[in-house]
Amino acid sequence: MPLLNVSGLSKRFGALRAVNNVSFAVEEGEILGLIGPNGSGKSTTFNCIAGLYTPSGGSILFEGAEIAGLPANRVCHKGIGRTFQIPRPFRNLTLLENVALSAYFGQDRGATRANCWRFAEEALALVGLPTDARAVTDGLGAAALKKLELARALATQPRVLLADESLNGLDHSEMEQAADMLNRIRREKGITIVWVEHIMGVLMRVVDRVVVLDHGEVIFAGPPKDAQANARVVEVYLGTETDA
Ligand SMILES: Nc1ncnc2c1ncn2[C@@H]1O[C@H](COP(=O)(O)OP(=O)(O)O)[C@@H](O)[C@H]1O
Ligand SMILES: [Mg+2]
Repeated sequence: MPLLNVSGLSKRFGALRAVNNVSFAVEEGEILGLIGPNGSGKSTTFNCIAGLYTPSGGSILFEGAEIAGLPANRVCHKGIGRTFQIPRPFRNLTLLENVALSAYFGQDRGATRANCWRFAEEALALVGLPTDARAVTDGLGAAALKKLELARALATQPRVLLADESLNGLDHSEMEQAADMLNRIRREKGITIVWVEHIMGVLMRVVDRVVVLDHGEVIFAGPPKDAQANARVVEVYLGTETDA
């Protein structure tokens, strides 16, 4: 049984079919890349899984149980953590407080202060940010903000991490480091990862499989090397000869 099984997922906004009959399965321990051009429905798919949006149709099974339509806190408590494409930390809280707040959110009843602070320190250490209680968000650059976003998701103690555009706004060496970090999170914590990016780039080096979306529909699913050789995927990314 896959850990997460999305089948026939749809999300409409008025007449727009942002996600249209999307199906994919995520196996325990894998890193699945979910890629596609801007506006292809990647974040909407995440928002349906994570409980921000109620799907218009379809099923989302996590550990075999239906989670489609559950509110975000319930989905999080079940073990699905997510990052947001645009980091929006609480600027007047310290780094540790920001992440500890996520740790509280991630625990159902019975969250203790000691546990939440420990989860926050562990998450900050895992992404390579300071665990010093005085460290603040002021002056954090794009790469550090992406790390903070990952730490906030990790502090909820997920089994599955949904990472949305972890490379956006980073330079090349920062992208390589971010890719290695996701790989390390999988290896050291055993966390299954679904990783959204609009660019293929370094993601292709780390993921086990990719699912490619275009206009809300799956146009390819398989190993990264096959994706790069697939005519439809190449067309979506590079345009056709006539377009050129
Ligand atoms: N809350 C919303 N209301 C209306 N349209 C939306 C909403 N969220 C996303 N969309 C539209 O759905 C489509 C897919 O968006 P999105 O999932 O954010 O794409 P991606 O993450 O792949 O760039 C886009 O056309 C976008 O404008
Ligand atoms: Mg997006």
